[in-house]
Amino acid sequence: MKKFLCLAAGLLMIASLAACTSKKDELVMATNAEFPPYEFHEGDKIVGIDVEICQAIADELGKELVIEDMAFDSVITSVYTGKADLGAAGLTITEDRLKNINFSDPYATAAQVIIIKEDSDIASPDDLVGKTIGVQLGTTGDIYAEDIEDATLERYNKGFEAVQALLQGKIDAVIIDNEPAKVYVSQNDGLKIVDEAFTYEEYAIAIAKDNTKLLDDVNAAIKKLKDSGKLDEIVAKYISADN
Ligand code: ARG
Repeated sequence: MKKFLCLAAGLLMIASLAACTSKKDELVMATNAEFPPYEFHEGDKIVGIDVEICQAIADELGKELVIEDMAFDSVITSVYTGKADLGAAGLTITEDRLKNINFSDPYATAAQVIIIKEDSDIASPDDLVGKTIGVQLGTTGDIYAEDIEDATLERYNKGFEAVQALLQGKIDAVIIDNEPAKVYVSQNDGLKIVDEAFTYEEYAIAIAKDNTKLLDDVNAAIKKLKDSGKLDEIVAKYISADN
């Protein structure tokens, strides 16, 4: 009986693995659609800059783009384990992440910024010492905030939940990427972004280490998007120059 159960469990595992691995004609994109304007829900659709970049890459490769929405801290794992072909989630290139996956050439520059209430006494990153800070779990904001002296970190599953906690006065500041920060500040009264950024970073697409073919293809597609002006067009659709 035991043997049979093991066998059955084993088969189930193989079956589910097979179901997870992407088909040849599909390009599976792992993301966390809680990150406007890069990926977010619009009605029942997931849209944004990363989605359009990956759609263009899929078109280039003659594949169908399949979006898998998941927790942010699962995005890199799912690329690492081969469940997704690529991870596109406003992912910052870091040395630590490069140990597990490859990154494409960068397609955007970004910054971690600090959101505070308008009446806050926090005026620069140095003022975060001893404060209670909200971040999205597993993001670079989370990782870098760990180094702030005497600070208490509150980790949320979604960046917007951190912003809500700030609005409710539960935390003193949120560290998050600059573009989502602008979106959240524009959608909620009484918030502002500290002028001085916390860190500067670059976004790229995550691809499994052994998938060098896809890495080359994605880099070629990104180059084409940059050279043709299509990348700028996509960005301009979601980010207006004056904000
Ligand atoms: N750039 C940050 C990082 O790589 C945050 C990205 C969050 N992205 C998302 N889709 N929620 O850690």
